[in-house]
Amino acid sequence: MRFPPSFLDEIRDRVPISQVVGQRVTFDKRKTNAARGDFWACCPFHGENTPSFHCEDRKGRYHCFGCGVSGDHFRFLTELDGMGFPEAVERVAEMAGVPMPARDPQAEKREKERASLTDVMAMAAEFFREKLQGPEGAEARAYLRSRGLSPATQQAFGLGFAPDSRNALKNHLTQKGVAPEQIEACGLVRHGPDIPVSYDWFRGRIMFPIEDTRGRVIAFGGRALSPDVPAKYMNSPDTELFHKGNVLYNHARARRATAKGEPVIAVEGYMDVIALAQAGIENAVAPLGTALTENQLELLWRMSGEPVLCFDGDEAGVRAAYRAADLALPMVQAGRTLRFALLPEGQDPDDLVKAEGRGAFDALLGQARPLADLLWMRETNGRVFDTPERRAELEQIMRELSGRIRDENVRRHYAQALREKVLHFFGSNRDQRKGGKDRYGNGRGGAGGKGAQAGRLPMSESLARSALVRKAGATMPVREAVLVLTMVNHPALIDEFFDALERLDLTSRDLARLRAGILDAVAHDVPAERDEMIKALAASGLDQIVEQAEVLARRARQWPALADAADEDAREAFLQALHLHHSASFLHKELKAAEMALANEPTEENYRHLVEIQAELRNVQATEALIEGFGQLSGRTGR
Ligand code: UTP
Ligand code: MN
Repeated sequence: MRFPPSFLDEIRDRVPISQVVGQRVTFDKRKTNAARGDFWACCPFHGENTPSFHCEDRKGRYHCFGCGVSGDHFRFLTELDGMGFPEAVERVAEMAGVPMPARDPQAEKREKERASLTDVMAMAAEFFREKLQGPEGAEARAYLRSRGLSPATQQAFGLGFAPDSRNALKNHLTQKGVAPEQIEACGLVRHGPDIPVSYDWFRGRIMFPIEDTRGRVIAFGGRALSPDVPAKYMNSPDTELFHKGNVLYNHARARRATAKGEPVIAVEGYMDVIALAQAGIENAVAPLGTALTENQLELLWRMSGEPVLCFDGDEAGVRAAYRAADLALPMVQAGRTLRFALLPEGQDPDDLVKAEGRGAFDALLGQARPLADLLWMRETNGRVFDTPERRAELEQIMRELSGRIRDENVRRHYAQALREKVLHFFGSNRDQRKGGKDRYGNGRGGAGGKGAQAGRLPMSESLARSALVRKAGATMPVREAVLVLTMVNHPALIDEFFDALERLDLTSRDLARLRAGILDAVAHDVPAERDEMIKALAASGLDQIVEQAEVLARRARQWPALADAADEDAREAFLQALHLHHSASFLHKELKAAEMALANEPTEENYRHLVEIQAELRNVQATEALIEGFGQLSGRTGR
């Protein structure tokens, strides 16, 4: 029977070729780099003692440098095992867990028609590209230049221009002998019973070809040049070739990048994908103007176990992140989950890489939060759980959330992690001592964490800057607040810690002002008593900041920082917090350096170094979590 190429593609995509080959050969440990999908073995087709047979998951092909054989999954099975083609297909389909298609002459006919439709789409793409380069494309070219897209990038993404004409494309295709029904079936014209003469779907727009997994054009997105057109972006309608909920923009290219081991990143817009690619980040995809669908999630998971979903830091973005989390939750499995990165409010990835370069985006990705954290944050942020009823309600919500997970194992782990989180959150004694490492819910619930991901931080900077948290009134990190507040409430300690205080790395501008006030007060006349200090600070208008820090410290149960604590206890706690603060800032810097090193030179040693630093950071954060009792993550303000 004839198999639909899309079916063959699908099963080939799902099964790494190394898995097929690995059933018949033993890979050479020294030469093989499994993490990169790069395998070597002695060639099973000809006898040899040193491995010159190479197979590469990224390409889905094998090649022997000795005898010259090469091929894909099916070729390997037919040539080495002497299977018939259908049998080989059946074998790979089985490995992929995909049922064989029923023989269907109708479907075969449709497949043929599809093939001719993709030819028409290719002609359209070519037409748009030519128009972009021609005289009518001048304004569009200027626009693309103003958006900072290099000619190479424009070419790589096949950008084009649809002239502002009712039938430029239609005429072009007709002249080339394409039948009107085909043009209609491609969604390239508007037509219908109440449209006497069909006309071009896209007019006066920059054109973005949308490709299928094999890189064939199946649809277009078009961006209006003029700002006062009602729809800034417009996509092709759904057609035989294109179902927008099943397609990701830049899928084919991103998959190639993810085959090198980078997780796939989902962003919101075409322009974001393209700007990232120009900045060297080629593993980004975007849905097509709709919220992420289940099918698109599946596609992401086929590329990597932990896709990073990247959303704008505004309210709409946060809402979209929550929606995606709800969608994904029932579907998570071991090694199949999500991370979430939130951009600073008002910026999209395009803006970010343009303004601050690739490093800024990498840093953001490094701080992406696991799914479990996002859910936790949604349920706790900005709320106060000051009654048993409210606490019980939170517990129930968490139970309900983990109950939605279909995979039994993951469900159990989630339930446990969230229960511990709830207990700890309320400062339960039962949980004070064990399970400290899980305080941030990191990794555990998320399942199958990839070693090379840096993001297991309690509160990422991006998050701190995002609307999510800013709305809760918290640009003041707890630890910083505690450090400075201790000096306000225990001025007797200032003498000893003067230098440390002066040099403290403070991200909060308010706290930096407060520190300046303290140092100033000390410089003028050492206030040895708290009351005097408070008076001096109030005189400088800093009393509100003090109050805010107090609220934070209380909520985080940092009693030693408060006025009632003995100086000696305050001193101990201060030292501990200072130590954590230094370790964390130091490790963050180290982490960045290690990530860069690994990116530039993916050696085993660099990888190990990165993993070590991540482990240390986790340690620091676990300690911190124990000390702060989740003060950082939530319950910051009363609403
Ligand atoms: P945005 O409005 O965030 O656009 O839409 P953008 O990606 O930042 O684009 P620029 O920078 O203004 O050029 C994000 C995505 O939502 C879809 C498109 O897929 C777009 O890429 N969209 C947006 C539409 O489908 N229709 C619209 O009118 C607007
Ligand atoms: Mn944009």
